Amino acid sequence: MIKSPTRVRTLKELREILAPHRREGRRIGFVPTMGALHDGHVSLVRTARAQSDVTVASIFVNPTQFAPGEDLDTYPRTEEADIARLAKVGTDIVYLPSVDEMYPEGSVTNVRVEGMSDLLDGQFRPHFFYGVATVVARLFVHVQPDVAVFGEKDYQQLQIIRRMVRDLGFAIDVIGGATVRDADGLAQSSRNTYLSECDRQTANTISGALHRARCRIAIGVPVEVALAEARQRILQAGFTKLDYVSVVDPMTLQDVPNGVLGAGVAARILGAAWMGQTRLIDNMGIGEA
Ligand code: PAF
Repeated sequence: MIKSPTRVRTLKELREILAPHRREGRRIGFVPTMGALHDGHVSLVRTARAQSDVTVASIFVNPTQFAPGEDLDTYPRTEEADIARLAKVGTDIVYLPSVDEMYPEGSVTNVRVEGMSDLLDGQFRPHFFYGVATVVARLFVHVQPDVAVFGEKDYQQLQIIRRMVRDLGFAIDVIGGATVRDADGLAQSSRNTYLSECDRQTANTISGALHRARCRIAIGVPVEVALAEARQRILQAGFTKLDYVSVVDPMTLQDVPNGVLGAGVAARILGAAWMGQTRLIDNMGIGEA
């Protein structure tokens, strides 16, 4: 029989429900989400379950990571369907805090991971990683997990959270979960539901272009040549705006030098582009990064 996760809405309840598990030395696994769950999230919960004794998922559409004019109000909210999915994959507790629970009135304490947050997506969404780091730090304090799982689909977010955990000394193992893709290669994302049927047909060009560039770099094509090809491919496919396609050091997220990437050098290729009103991001490892 499928058991529904226990629903918890306040920090007080969460502490009460987790206290006996902590006393018994059980390992707590955590998957933070904004809901609108897809197979990518399910795979993160599976990873958390495999690494822990008690699995907590949170659903919280975090206002501080949306800029005015972004899709905070229209972001898909599908709580019951999400909880049904979490039940199927064996989640023990679902944390559903309100905005007041996460940001008590008058709270002014925020987290900013300097430098890395201003690169790549940070250039186009300057508020974004500031909101993410702040809410994830608060969620970590609420849940106090032993292990937390984040998708590699949001690679910059994953690396920023790893850096925050290191800098602030959180005793949490951060695990990256592999990106889950549709059959045509498009990375699964809650925002894919915004795509019109026609746009959906070509949306996978972003993953195709990154994949091709990664293969070209691996056979010795200079980075700037492979990137120019990828940019052209994305724009020709009907993406309305290209924010960036870059090859970066996987840890620092700084651009790698132009030219041929040395054999065995780990790097990451990342891209962000607009299909109409929908912004799609994707990334892949080069040299096993
Ligand atoms: O990746 C997400 O869904 C969000 O950025 C996160 C990590 C849950 C913080 O709101």
